[in-house]
Amino acid sequence: MSTKTRSAAPKTPRRQKPTTQGPDTSWFVQDRLGLFIHWGTYALAARHEWVKRNERMTDEAYQRYFDHFNPDLYDPREWARMAREAGMKYFVITTKHHEGFCLWDSRQTDYKATRTPYGKDLLKPMVEAFRAEGLKVGFYYSLLDWHHPDYPVDSHHPRAEDQAYRKANAGRDVRKYAAYMRAQVKELLTGFGRIDILWFDFSFPGKDGKGRADWESEKLLALVRKHQPHVLLDNRLDLPGSGNFETPEQYVPEDGVRDAEGNPVVWEGCQTFSGSWGYHRDEASWKSVPMVIEMLVNHVSRGGNLLLNVGPTGRGEFDHRAREQLRAMGEWMRLHGRSIYGCGRAPDEFPEPKNARYTWNPEARRLYVHLPSWPFKEIHLPNLMGRVAYAQLLNDASELRFRDRSVAVHANMHGRITGDEVVVELPTLKPPVAMPVIELFIRD
Ligand code: GLC
Repeated sequence: MSTKTRSAAPKTPRRQKPTTQGPDTSWFVQDRLGLFIHWGTYALAARHEWVKRNERMTDEAYQRYFDHFNPDLYDPREWARMAREAGMKYFVITTKHHEGFCLWDSRQTDYKATRTPYGKDLLKPMVEAFRAEGLKVGFYYSLLDWHHPDYPVDSHHPRAEDQAYRKANAGRDVRKYAAYMRAQVKELLTGFGRIDILWFDFSFPGKDGKGRADWESEKLLALVRKHQPHVLLDNRLDLPGSGNFETPEQYVPEDGVRDAEGNPVVWEGCQTFSGSWGYHRDEASWKSVPMVIEMLVNHVSRGGNLLLNVGPTGRGEFDHRAREQLRAMGEWMRLHGRSIYGCGRAPDEFPEPKNARYTWNPEARRLYVHLPSWPFKEIHLPNLMGRVAYAQLLNDASELRFRDRSVAVHANMHGRITGDEVVVELPTLKPPVAMPVIELFIRD
């Protein structure tokens, strides 16, 4: 697989100002953690969901994955259970990825699960299973389509470099394709009950690209708002003001995401365990459990959600490495969910000490101190003198003694002026959890 072409996927979608008025995002911000699922016939190639593009495959060559697609072990109740036990509160499934293959029984195409050897709809039982576990439902829908005969060849297309192919397909009509998308999106929005998130992916306007004029984004938006007015829409339609949340991908913005005036906005980072979204057998750069938990904490401490991805196999199971990660995350979340759900960025009056990440629950007035590396005996928390009513380790509710300490006002490593501090005494040994958390009860 060429790494050169892999970078064809956009790393930073163009930022746009989310609408100030719009659907209620409060549940989303409360829930903080969701599961992304990338599943399609590329699971059989098992070498990235962009394999068709990366290897410049023809439709004929790629057809073998469709012809052999038979996920005999698929049990969406098992998937939903694993997601819930990992602490996830919603999921987003690729109903159709760039390859064009549809997980549901779309009336608009034969390129769908029901026409493969598997022969059954994959989406409906998935939606039902996740709902039954109490998770909210999100649909990802690819704007790109490398299978549809009306989708004009562009810079990301598998055949982009094949001039003869381009010439032979010069007559493709993007209007027809845009109408196809609307018909499909309507099916998704009317055939599966209440949908909580709709995740369009992605726009690349400009030379040999595609954007709002090609997708007819206004019409798509109107359709979405007509059928599911409450649905939360991502920001990738190339239509300023249409997004209800920002979507940084494969990185955590240092200071969260802000609008042009510098105000924090709703955002959700989407991340992989290993670099590939689709199942990738030979990808070895899997993050460690502490790294993934740190990633989650980094999102929430900067006011964001984490949408964490798994790429199920062609047999229909979660990658064994993903299962282990989800189990570990569940164990950590079971004890530390309180520092994640309903939490966000701490107020500026509580500057973080070195090597710690804060999250803040404004309702409960609790400040959570996440410690990726375990300090020796004590930790000094700036500006908190007189503010802490009680302190404990979150994993076992064991009391942590603390004292106020008046210090000369000084500039800390961030260049901020800090006032008097609280010194929290810690046990010598790190608690037996992937990342320990101190829970501080803050006075009004
Ligand atoms: C990029 C990639 C795609 C992936 C998505 C997730 O747009 O094209 O493969 O689904 O990111 O955000």
